[in-house]
Amino acid sequence: MLRYLTAGESHGPALTTIVEGFPSGIVLDHEFINFELKRRQGGYGRGKRQTLETDRIFVESGTYQGITTGAPITLRLANNDAKLERLQQPASPRGGHIDLAGSINYQTGIRQVLERASARETALRVAVGALAKLLLRELHIQVYGYVSELGGIAAPPTTTDLAVRDASPVYTLNPEADPSIVAAIDAAKAAGDTLGGIVEAVVTGCPVGLGSHVQWDRKLDARLALAVMSIQAIKGVEIGLGIEAARRPGSQVMDPIRHEDVVDPEDPRFGFRRPTNNAGGIEGGTTNGEPIIVRAAKKPISTLAARGPSVNMATKAPQPATYERSDVCAVPAASVIVENVVAFEIASAIVDKYVGTSLGAIKAAIRSMHELARTHLEEWGKTVANG
Ligand SMILES: Cc1cc2nc3c(=O)[nH]c(=O)nc-3n(C[C@H](O)[C@H](O)[C@H](O)COP(=O)(O)O)c2cc1C
Repeated sequence: MLRYLTAGESHGPALTTIVEGFPSGIVLDHEFINFELKRRQGGYGRGKRQTLETDRIFVESGTYQGITTGAPITLRLANNDAKLERLQQPASPRGGHIDLAGSINYQTGIRQVLERASARETALRVAVGALAKLLLRELHIQVYGYVSELGGIAAPPTTTDLAVRDASPVYTLNPEADPSIVAAIDAAKAAGDTLGGIVEAVVTGCPVGLGSHVQWDRKLDARLALAVMSIQAIKGVEIGLGIEAARRPGSQVMDPIRHEDVVDPEDPRFGFRRPTNNAGGIEGGTTNGEPIIVRAAKKPISTLAARGPSVNMATKAPQPATYERSDVCAVPAASVIVENVVAFEIASAIVDKYVGTSLGAIKAAIRSMHELARTHLEEWGKTVANG
């Protein structure tokens, strides 16, 4: 079982995570993790905090000479902007935040709950996802994310070249859409407002059979939805066609299956192909070998420079909600977070299925499972032929 917990407050001394169940034998590439952390800090529309932090990971356990040992891996990120004990208690809770419900729930001030609810925590989720990607890349599984809509402006991908996304100020794969999106962010900022959007993550190269149909909590689509929905400010998650599937007749939703005559022995799909991928790579909670497509809706940030209506907690009289330095738009960052959260869930499904304590064991299990499936398909074919 691959799992992790995070700890740390937004303005505390540091953020820490312990990742357990990560296989041995993988070079822990710090620079790759730091690169992903840098991408999370970027994107047009972020606030001043990102200029104060330079997220770099400290690995405090679980490696020997830079290679994972299978023991728990502790990752730590220092906060440059560590000033928690000096920060004031806000007097008026912000709508759309944990401020009021969390203070009632934990019987504390607003500061204690907002510090932990803050999306600063997502730096750890990106670090953990980047770690997971180090395993996935050994298995030739690729995960990438991008922004497909922002502030109501659609940016459907016009390319799969990730250099285009990395050159985009708003992490789209559609350079033509970028200037209008940037202009919309500027306009929102000038009005003291904020913008949300839609992000997508795509996973290619997954073997058939990750997840399972036999129990609700083993279904991969369910596990992905839980993980992505748990990201701060994510309000909707779809797999494949998602909600749009409800609007179409079945003939325009089910993916036809065909078979190619010449089958590459290494082909993870055993020659079975689907010309469409409305299922988004998952049928019955199980990967079918097509790309996995996860879409997530991020709400606009609730802390408004124009300050939304609220009440003073002492007098209960109307008072504008507290304003603390904030992002105008964090949708590009959300695309990096969703990508890495998805990567972790895929790695976790792999460790579950191939029960691997080491990279070598996982690779061997994938090979033998592939052989087993090929034999099964041949036998199945014979049984059908014989009636
Ligand atoms: C990358 C990222 C950055 C965020 N930055 C801010 C921010 O600067 N200010 C803010 O009020 N909310 C920000 N949020 C959203 C809040 O963390 C989130 O809305 C809040 O914790 C309440 O949780 P909920 O929206 O999931 O209910 C950000 C979210 C993400 C994913």
